[in-house]
Amino acid sequence: GENVLYLAHRYGIDLEGACESSLACSTCHVYVSEEYHSKLPDPDEREEDMLDMAPLLQENSRLGCQII
Ligand code: FES
Repeated sequence: GENVLYLAHRYGIDLEGACESSLACSTCHVYVSEEYHSKLPDPDEREEDMLDMAPLLQENSRLGCQII
């Protein structure tokens, strides 16, 4: 699907995505600028669980493959 991970790869941005958007890793971790962060729906529980394993977690952290 055309999530942020997909778009990053399409535009040559080096973002990992070890599980290929299946919500089984946290390597697609991104920081979303506040302007956009507030517009996103809250992460669901599965995304939250994976985010908890991401290094350097911040308030504006999301998983790139879950941003559509
Ligand atoms: Fe694994 Fe996003 S690529 S959770």
